[in-house]
Amino acid sequence: MKKKVLITGGCGYIGSQIALEMLRGDKFEPVSIDNFCNSSSTIPDQVQNLTGKRYKNYNINLLASEALRVVFEEHEFYGLIHLAALKSIPQSLKYPLKYYENNIISLTNVLKYCHEFKVPKLVFSSSCSVYGAEAEFPVDEQSPVADRQASSYSNTKKIGEEIVRDFSAG
Ligand SMILES: NC(=O)c1ccc[n+]([C@@H]2O[C@H](COP(=O)([O-])OP(=O)(O)OC[C@H]3O[C@@H](n4cnc5c(N)ncnc54)[C@H](O)[C@@H]3O)[C@@H](O)[C@H]2O)c1
Repeated sequence: MKKKVLITGGCGYIGSQIALEMLRGDKFEPVSIDNFCNSSSTIPDQVQNLTGKRYKNYNINLLASEALRVVFEEHEFYGLIHLAALKSIPQSLKYPLKYYENNIISLTNVLKYCHEFKVPKLVFSSSCSVYGAEAEFPVDEQSPVADRQASSYSNTKKIGEEIVRDFSAG
């Protein structure tokens, strides 16, 4: 029996590839939430053309907490891969609040239901931009995160890492 994995942003660049690989394998069944704010609603069709299999996408904004709850009620998830975020550095400098709201509230909404519905596994997609331009390369998990982030985008990822760390420890 395949384990269900919820992919937020499952119709985006990375999420659609993960869904495709899961459909080709025999271990995981992808379920996606994506509101197509940076992707196309034709993505599940395109993945179906490549794999012969289809994955379900819920066209839900992750900021809509009650709509999100329904997805957790309908499925028993083994894991969650949280990819959904706005990711343009220049846009984040122009519209910081939009980035903080989308990337941070989406994350806390998702974590709230991971906790309530006891989802065992979580992957959070951060960004190497958190290490800053001055970092010594190559960076790894031990590399220090920059104190002062260069963009609101990378700051949402830094804050996101801290939220996930506290959530995991709680
Ligand atoms: N692509 C890269 O090279 C790269 C590098 C480092 C980190 N990341 C991170 O990986 C993740 C995925 O990146 P990507 O390149 O696939 O981005 P992407 O924009 O292609 O995919 C993100 C998806 O999330 C969806 N989304 C965003 N906000 C949403 C919301 N509130 N509700 C529902 N759906 C929402 C978008 O419609 C989009 O389809 C992002 O968090 C990004 O910051 C990407």
